[in-house]
Amino acid sequence: MNIAVVGTGYVGLVTGVGLSAIGHHVTCIDIDEEKVNKMKQGISPIFEPGLEDLMKENILADRLHFTTNYADTFLNLDIVYIAVGTPENEDGTANLTFIDKVVDQIAYYTKKEIIVVTKSTVPVGTNHYIKDKLTKQNPNVAFEVVSNPEFLREGSAVYDVFHGSRIVIGSDSEAAAEVMHQVNEPFGIPIFKTDTCSAEMIKYASNAFLATKISFINEIANVCEKVNADIEEVALGMGLDNRIGSQFLKAGIGYGGSCFPKDTKALKQIADEVDYEFGLLNAVIEFNNKQRKKLLNQALLDFDSLAGKNIGILGLAFKPDTDDIREAASLEIIPELVKMGANVKAYDPVAMDNAKKVLPAEVTYVDSPTLALADTDLVFILTEWADIRDLPLSTFENQMRNSNVYDGRNCFSQKDIQQSNLQSYYSIGRAAK
Ligand code: UGA
Repeated sequence: MNIAVVGTGYVGLVTGVGLSAIGHHVTCIDIDEEKVNKMKQGISPIFEPGLEDLMKENILADRLHFTTNYADTFLNLDIVYIAVGTPENEDGTANLTFIDKVVDQIAYYTKKEIIVVTKSTVPVGTNHYIKDKLTKQNPNVAFEVVSNPEFLREGSAVYDVFHGSRIVIGSDSEAAAEVMHQVNEPFGIPIFKTDTCSAEMIKYASNAFLATKISFINEIANVCEKVNADIEEVALGMGLDNRIGSQFLKAGIGYGGSCFPKDTKALKQIADEVDYEFGLLNAVIEFNNKQRKKLLNQALLDFDSLAGKNIGILGLAFKPDTDDIREAASLEIIPELVKMGANVKAYDPVAMDNAKKVLPAEVTYVDSPTLALADTDLVFILTEWADIRDLPLSTFENQMRNSNVYDGRNCFSQKDIQQSNLQSYYSIGRAAK
């Protein structure tokens, strides 16, 4: 199959590379010439474990190409994937500006029948809108539009491409759905075919459900703290019930990233627009905003003021194995600390360059977790990177001026904490020291 993927963000690039790896001829289109030139050499614009190796392999095999040129790419094309961003408008709705632009280009350049596949997360009904728009702009071409939502996780996207739990194909055309079935079959992942609107809803409902699961376990954690139960034990015991499942029961300082916060708000808007008050989802969104500030609020309870304190930050990314800091707890906490007059020193193995662009200029960045601890009065652990989880507690004791540790990701066992000489240790849903 000759396939084009428009947009080489995290979803588009990983999709393009994945499709080339199962034997399709793929051209990834992006408007950013500099980025395209780098990708041609196998250099990935995002940090994603395993991605560059797979890019290089498929570029060498002549199956994977990158371009800014729509005209040439559309000369001989069977399928085009739309994988551009749908960022959040101020009111929480999904912004479809990029989708609209790509649809205009597809309508303009397509000369023969084509299947348009929407990978981007779009509100229910958008695929019908895309089909109408294409048909109006170019009535000479038979367009089929398929919703094929993305379930990849950042940081394990390459693994997920080949080991995902399902591929959802939403189409009102049986023929188009069958072609998409054939395209995806080599991935060896179960394929679920459904109608277009249901496919669009599956994406939002899945992310909202996972966000709800996280918020639920975080609320249980907050209660555990008050009744002397241990959330790690509670989550293990709950997860043994197959109906509940053990995944996404890790308590912490809330969910972040480019997907859960955006998609929960977009689903709230979708419900609002049809006059349905989605109370449960509203509570999840509100609670998560509070949970992200939990460590800071606790530190403010423990100390009269944080002004003048030396504070270390371990982890800036919204989760490990990614350089993505969108909606990360670090962005909530660090500006507040700076405003309060604290001296902030931060470490992250890969996200510091991104953080420097948005965090206050007063923040100092260091190249190791040990340096981030040196001479501090408090440390906030915001991301459970392996090199942070693996730090011996003696490093905290020896490096910090006052070893007060606020662990938002429960990186250390309670047994080790109790045996340590840390001055204080606060984590989520467990007894504090
Ligand atoms: C999420 C979904 O997991 C993917 O299936 C989906 O494709 C993606 O959004 C998307 O819509 O593009 P991602 O945002 O990459 O993936 O990251 P997750 O691993 O799901 O983590 C999201 C947030 O939840 C992180 O801040 C993480 O720390 C937090 N989390 C996750 C918890 O606090 N506890 C958990 O048990 C799991």
